[in-house]
Amino acid sequence: MAKARVHSRHVEQFLVPQEDAKLEDPEETLDESGDPLEESGQTVDTSDEEEIDDSVAEDIVRFEESFEGINKRYRLINRVGEGTFSTVYKAEDLEYHKYENRWDIDARENRKWASPGHRRKAHRPHYVAIKKIYVTSSPMRIFNELELLHDLKNSDSVCPLITAFRHLDQVVAVLPYCQHRDFREYYRDMKVPEMRLYFRSLFTALRSVHSKQIIHRDIKPTNFLYNPQYARGVLVDFGLAERQGTDWHRCACAMDIEDHETKISNSVWAQSREAPPSYPKSDMRPSRRANRAGTRGFRAPEVLLKCTQQTTSIDMWSAGVILLTLLSRRFPFFHSADDVDALLEITTMFGRKKMRETALLHGQVFQTNIPSYSEQGHALEKIILWCTNRSTKDERTGLKPELEDDEKEAVQFLYRLLECNPAKRITAEEALQHPFITKAFEDSECDDDMVDLVDV
Ligand SMILES: Nc1ncnc2c1ncn2[C@@H]1O[C@H](COP(=O)(O)OP(=O)(O)O)[C@@H](O)[C@H]1O
Ligand SMILES: [Mg+2]
Ligand SMILES: [Zn+2]
Repeated sequence: MAKARVHSRHVEQFLVPQEDAKLEDPEETLDESGDPLEESGQTVDTSDEEEIDDSVAEDIVRFEESFEGINKRYRLINRVGEGTFSTVYKAEDLEYHKYENRWDIDARENRKWASPGHRRKAHRPHYVAIKKIYVTSSPMRIFNELELLHDLKNSDSVCPLITAFRHLDQVVAVLPYCQHRDFREYYRDMKVPEMRLYFRSLFTALRSVHSKQIIHRDIKPTNFLYNPQYARGVLVDFGLAERQGTDWHRCACAMDIEDHETKISNSVWAQSREAPPSYPKSDMRPSRRANRAGTRGFRAPEVLLKCTQQTTSIDMWSAGVILLTLLSRRFPFFHSADDVDALLEITTMFGRKKMRETALLHGQVFQTNIPSYSEQGHALEKIILWCTNRSTKDERTGLKPELEDDEKEAVQFLYRLLECNPAKRITAEEALQHPFITKAFEDSECDDDMVDLVDV
């Protein structure tokens, strides 16, 4: 047998000049990822030739001309996604057979099933996704994304980095091309059993990421490429991700109960509680700064409240927003203009009392004079019934509509995700043990039995 000329790919030609890295002003770091409705992703499959618009063809030619040597390695086929920080192309990997491709799960699976004759001539095209990171992104930010992706290689349900290239100021990341369906095509019809599978896959990815103490920070449908046909998804886009603990400053939420109480009772707010709400004329306190990177509508309350010790649990809140979207059939569910607006949207649901407690947890004071916010908020069941037009009594029976039994189960789980106190919020590991998710295992157990049978 001819000895195959295989060698592993490394992150090639990638160098971040340290001087540039230092130049970055943290104030100028863009921390708002795109509105999930404005971002364009599309349903992608593994078919080869596809019709493309003239403008896309021109864009591809421009890219090929500007990035020297790219078309020797890849044949660009289509533009498949445009996020806030990048454009993503589908391409055929022309040098696939020169390398070891440990990332290629599909090839491994296919080889397992293929007949020996088929295996020999398995010279079909192999596709990759080329993520062209906008040159306006800071070198530190690009380095951060690639480094975290590198650390996450071999992580279950996380899209692995194959390699990366730099030509002048342009950096591209090369990832396996992941077949998926656009969330907007299925969020209105997804049934609860399918939601169990979706979240089983998403929490598998989050468990891998969180076990490495990495916070993704931008969990939303466009960053989780899900294929309902195979009930499998991969997490992408580590552009805003960070290691937990980076830039931590002591926040009241991490104090023990005694310290927390002392801090609150000594605060200016506590000492002037009886007086009508007022604000100091010249506030000498330093302004509070915290990482708020993420997407509007998906930020956890502690991010909005500028918690300075944010943890991986902020991703679990965002996952909760996706579940709320699926149950309510409203996308995007939250649509706020800014962080204060976002806090008020959460207040509408959970009530003033919960928001006061949540703010105090992080040493902040929440006050509002808008009379329409109730003290206790509304039950999630009720909100979902409203959103799905099931809130009026039946004229004949006089009965109030109720959620289906499996929707009720989903809501119980949703309460664990949309828990305002991050310390009490369910973790990815725990979520995978929750009955809402384990039922998905039970449902698919018969499929696994089938696979085992065929394997024998
Ligand atoms: N590996 C991939 N396979 C197929 N499509 C992808 C892949 N990676 C990204 N995309 C598409 O490109 C879009 C933008 O990619 P993303 O990594 O989220 O970049 P941004 O940081 O610009 O948001 C995604 O929402 C998705 O539609
Ligand atoms: Mg994205
Ligand atoms: Zn905090």
